Parts: sequence; C-alpha cells; structure tokens
Amino acid sequence: MKRILFVFAVLALVVSSCGESKKEEVKKEVEAPKEEVKETPAASAGSEDLVAMGEKLFTDKTCVSCHQAEAKIVGPSIKDIVQIYSDQDASIVSFLKGEQEAIVDTDPGQVAIMKANLDGFVKDLKEEELKALEAYMLSIK
Ligand code: HEC
Repeated sequence: MKRILFVFAVLALVVSSCGESKKEEVKKEVEAPKEEVKETPAASAGSEDLVAMGEKLFTDKTCVSCHQAEAKIVGPSIKDIVQIYSDQDASIVSFLKGEQEAIVDTDPGQVAIMKANLDGFVKDLKEEELKALEAYMLSIK
C-alpha cells in the first residue's frame, strides 16, 4: 500500500511540474514593437516647405498670370510689392484677407482688378495657403 501511495506521489509531482512548465510557456509575453507616430501637421511645416507650397499656389491660383517676379505686367511685380510691403512693414496676408487697403498701386481701376480676385477666389483660400503665398513672395529678392 505504501508503495502505491509513493507511486501516486511521484506521478502527482511529475504531472504538476509538467503543468508548471506549460504555464511558463504560455506566459511568454509577445511584445508588440512600439511605433512612434510622427505628426507633421502642415501648420508646422518648415519655412522652405511653405515657400514651395506658395510657389505652387502662385501658379495654380493664377497669380502668376498678373504678377511676375521682376516685370510689371497686369499687376505690379512681386519685387515691387515686397519692396513696398517691407518698407511699410505691412502684411500681405492681411491684404489678401481684405483687411487692409492696397498700398502698392492705388489706381482705382487697378485696385478693382485685384479686388475681383480677392472677392472671387482668394477669400476661399485657407490661412495657411495665404501664409504660403506671402512666404513665396517674400522669398523673391
Ligand atoms: C487678373 C490679374 C491679377 C491676378 C490673377 C492677381 N492679381 Fe494681384 N494685383 C493685380 C493688380 C492689377 C494689382 C494692383 C492693384 C493693387 O495694388 O491692389 C495687384 C496687386 C496685388 C498686391 C499688392 C496689393 C497692394 O497693397 O497694393 C498683392 C499682394 C497681390 N496682388 C497678390 C496677388 C496674389 C497672391 C494673387 C493670386 C492669389 C494675385 N495677386 C492675383 C492683378 C492681379
């Protein structure tokens, strides 16, 4: 009888230890690699990106058909605009938003041409796009 009990005891030990090792295996943790999500909101785009975006908009939004870098065509050249805006410490964004009167060419006929653009499509541009247009114009030297 004692012998049988002993065998049972041994069996119980073996079974329980096997169980232990199985549990250990299950315990192994699977660590998921942590991915860092880098946020680059457009608002924090570098100034170079802003200039590039502005250059594209200047063409896409037809500004270029009336404003050239050096020469006056329909509207004043970008250089003339930038010159007067920096002399007077004025904001191109404010002008484009319609918050500030024209200071470069105040001829009513000319102002009306630009005003038609401001009322037509410039008002639909986002703040960031206006800033990009300004950054691009200021980059022309
Ligand atoms: C159809 C022609 C035309 C287009 C297109 C046009 N402009 Fe003009 N723009 C003018 C004329 C004309 C003036 C001169 C009148 C004036 O200064 O307001 C002018 C003036 C300006 C001025 C100087 C405003 C001031 O203080 O006198 C800025 C800045 C300007 N335009 C930016 C732009 C931008 C940016 C775009 C594109 C989103 C654009 N323009 C599209 C004709 C145009």
